[in-house]
Amino acid sequence: MILKSEVKVTSLEQLLELLWTDYTELNPSVKNVFQLFSAANEKVVNDHVAFRTFNYPEMNIDVLSQTFLKFGYEYKDDYHFEEKKLYAKHFEHQNPLLPKIFISELLTEKFPKLVQDILQKLRTQISPSFLKRSDLCTAGRPWNTSHQDYLTLKEHSEYAAWMSAYGLRVNHFTVLINELKKFSTITEVNNLLKKNGHQLNTSGGEIKGTAADFLEQSSTLAYNAQVPFSDGTFTIPACYYEFAYRHPLKSGKLFQGFVAKSADKIFESTNKGQ
Ligand code: NI
Repeated sequence: MILKSEVKVTSLEQLLELLWTDYTELNPSVKNVFQLFSAANEKVVNDHVAFRTFNYPEMNIDVLSQTFLKFGYEYKDDYHFEEKKLYAKHFEHQNPLLPKIFISELLTEKFPKLVQDILQKLRTQISPSFLKRSDLCTAGRPWNTSHQDYLTLKEHSEYAAWMSAYGLRVNHFTVLINELKKFSTITEVNNLLKKNGHQLNTSGGEIKGTAADFLEQSSTLAYNAQVPFSDGTFTIPACYYEFAYRHPLKSGKLFQGFVAKSADKIFESTNKGQ
């Protein structure tokens, strides 16, 4: 298990801080990227924070979103990813400077019995007290598992394997390029990243989406982390950093949704050996 000690969440500000701390501790390279923007005197505004989970009723999107709804977020839209067997919802806060929350869940029943059996082995280890934690969305991995099972899951779903290794925690933060002063296109941001040694996810091209989709996105490839399993500690992909440029709708307001065909490729940022 990689459980973190519980932090009682009492405000949205505290929760967002907690999420950022957890994310940057697991992926120190994210801090290097963040510092590239700070060094340019940029104030980074996050477009969204993304989470992954399983669709079991005790830990699905509806469960994970509770905390955010309590702090004033509202459900806005949902998305289907047929091939990856995922479903997702996004939530927004009235304050446009607060990040949107994007939560996806693995449709566990759509996988072969072998996969379902491994996932059930994880599920049955979760204690009821874990599920009551106010910091549930960033509480960590409440089960023991083997690298062997991780590899088996990976053959069927990279997402399932990632979940088995990390449990409940942030999958990525996303920088809103529109709020940057010195970088006005996603290409400029990508060039900054590449110049500083960060590898981009090239699945579906470096930039996912076009102005016609109202959303352009790019992401780094996931950074690696050392993860303890019952059969040893292994270096595996952890999380990535994402970048979004939003285009205005006819109304003049920036598009606030997500584009399923782009997100589908972004999910592959945690694939190894791209
Ligand atoms: Ni994202």
